[in-house]
Amino acid sequence: MDIKKRIDQLKEIINKANLEYYMLDNSIIEDQEYDRYMQELNELEEKYPEYKTEDSPTQNVGAKILDKFEKVTHQIPMLSLGNIFNENEVINFDKKIRKEIENPKYVCELKIDGLSVSATYKNGILIQGATRGDGTVGENITNNVMTIKSLPHTLNQKIDIEVRGEIYMRKDVFEKLNEQRKKEGKSLLQNPRNAASGSVHQLDYNITKKRHLDCFIYHLPNPLDYDIYTHHEALEFMEKLGLEVNKNRIVANNIEEVIDYINYWSEFRNTLPYEIDGIVIKLDDINSQNKLGYTARTPKWAIAYKFPAEIVKTRLIDIIFSVGRTGKITPNAVLEPVKLAGSTIARATLHNEDNVIFKDIRINDKVLIRKAGDVIPEVICSDKEARDGSEKKFVMIKKCPICKTDLIRKEKEADYFCPNINCDARKVETIIHYAERGAMNIEGLGENVIEDLYNQGFIRRIDDIYHIEKYEKELILLEGYGPKLVSNLKKAIEQSKNNSLEKLIYGLGIRQVGAKTAKILAKKFKNIDNLINSDYETLNNINDIGPIIAKNIIDYFQNEDNINLIEELKKLNINTKYISQNETEKEEFANKKFVLTGALDTITREEAKKLIENYGGNVSDSISSKTNVLIVGSNPGSKYEKAIKLNIPIWSEEEFLEKIKEEEK
Ligand code: IVH
Repeated sequence: MDIKKRIDQLKEIINKANLEYYMLDNSIIEDQEYDRYMQELNELEEKYPEYKTEDSPTQNVGAKILDKFEKVTHQIPMLSLGNIFNENEVINFDKKIRKEIENPKYVCELKIDGLSVSATYKNGILIQGATRGDGTVGENITNNVMTIKSLPHTLNQKIDIEVRGEIYMRKDVFEKLNEQRKKEGKSLLQNPRNAASGSVHQLDYNITKKRHLDCFIYHLPNPLDYDIYTHHEALEFMEKLGLEVNKNRIVANNIEEVIDYINYWSEFRNTLPYEIDGIVIKLDDINSQNKLGYTARTPKWAIAYKFPAEIVKTRLIDIIFSVGRTGKITPNAVLEPVKLAGSTIARATLHNEDNVIFKDIRINDKVLIRKAGDVIPEVICSDKEARDGSEKKFVMIKKCPICKTDLIRKEKEADYFCPNINCDARKVETIIHYAERGAMNIEGLGENVIEDLYNQGFIRRIDDIYHIEKYEKELILLEGYGPKLVSNLKKAIEQSKNNSLEKLIYGLGIRQVGAKTAKILAKKFKNIDNLINSDYETLNNINDIGPIIAKNIIDYFQNEDNINLIEELKKLNINTKYISQNETEKEEFANKKFVLTGALDTITREEAKKLIENYGGNVSDSISSKTNVLIVGSNPGSKYEKAIKLNIPIWSEEEFLEKIKEEEK
């Protein structure tokens, strides 16, 4: 395969996953898969440095921050960790360290599955909590952090100190929370990590408080300032200050002891009351750490060993079929319920007919189930040895299980589709998608509630959602509803009218238009009419939008029913305009492509890049006709001449800083 193409593909997948994860607290791919992609990208960039760009996800930790909290600049960047997956890689990590450090000792710690936090104490009093954000700039979550009982408000010493750790949700708290949400008809949270992240990102700290979060501290950014020369002493020091440091840590004298620790916790991780997704190995001696230093996003003196996805065995009782929003038919396994990765599993996907036939999975088989991180659990394979003759071969259905229309399967595609656009299942799924968190985000209007309301005949189309008051009385009388729930639902529906355009675009469910594409479209077209009136050429010319998506968008708006729906939504006062979430986004910078050349005197390139991005612009490495502005420092390179040839506006460093000042006035 073309290397450049693969690199671009990997970047796109990782960026998309980052966006979903950091912006929406939602994971769209398995952790292991994410790590593999990242590793592949790292390896390719190392082998082909000519394709390594500053905007690669390997050069940035996580994704950009949300704008709803104030920003906090980390004095010392909050880094992430490199990942390894097997014993060989553990041994290689040690070998690399040994090239520079004699007889290294390691601290082994549990890798807590939550989100990292920086906590700052002044005079022993907690004054600030911040998320990692992009590693340099995080979000100020002080109020929310204050609600975490295991993070003390006052330390045992009147000391100025910044410590870092992981906010997490205990498994029992997570289960209770989901039980409660189920009762309230709210969508279930995927796992304790997402639940913790979602809770921390609440603007109202009273909600965070109810989530009963916890926090382990595992890092002191500047130990030498406290005359501490080993990491294990730093942990003890922080523990003495009254901070919660995980007790299950050890100092390993050699790599064999590290491997023993990994093996032990691989077996016993389930006994812990919180989720861990691996083991962190850190060089103990601080001077040695400093000697080894850092890459752009990770320390060279520490590494995370990631556990393989958890797998369990259970019986497959039946195979049932679900119909998606696009009409896609998915075979699903009904399972004897089993505990897996923190929750009880009774269903797993079998993906499609080819998969079931290829793996020869039969009803009544003993099957292996995997749920790596967050994704829907899947059946990996069946245990053929355990068969006793009672198993029944899989037969694909030929008619839609809901509307009984003949299914179709396009040439070269693995999936069957129900072609009936009026199929009840498709309609319900369309409404579910519209109300989803990433889309219009209508709290309380989850899958079960929508199914109920659809079956009662209250909501048959998306716009019916906004007429809920018409059947309020009947709704209150439905089992499990009641006045409080209905009143909350009404509020959430009303609130959704104010969403920015991208939420609506995503909610419409145009084929292959995910949250990221919806955002690009909303930013570009600013209102729904501009989007409706755009043409294939314009759409296809937008970065990140290919010919297939462009065609899907055109097809969607050529359908009269869809146009009617949008007209209805407008009449109902649903906002159809783009509301810039980035309050700092400004005309001079927004959606413009910047290139920098030459040395800047007063700020670093990284700082300049951050400023531009904060104001809504993009920075790229190379100049082309698509570049909007070249910023020139002293001794500029060939980019300067190229910009002149291409007639691209040029700003000096002074001019650039002037513009920033103007924007800040
Ligand atoms: S050390 C420079 N220790 O894992 C120090 N991180 O995948 C960097 N994490 O960003 C972090 N448990 O959010 C460290 N015992 C532990 C950890 C831990 C969980 C998280 C942390 C980090 C991520 C990297």
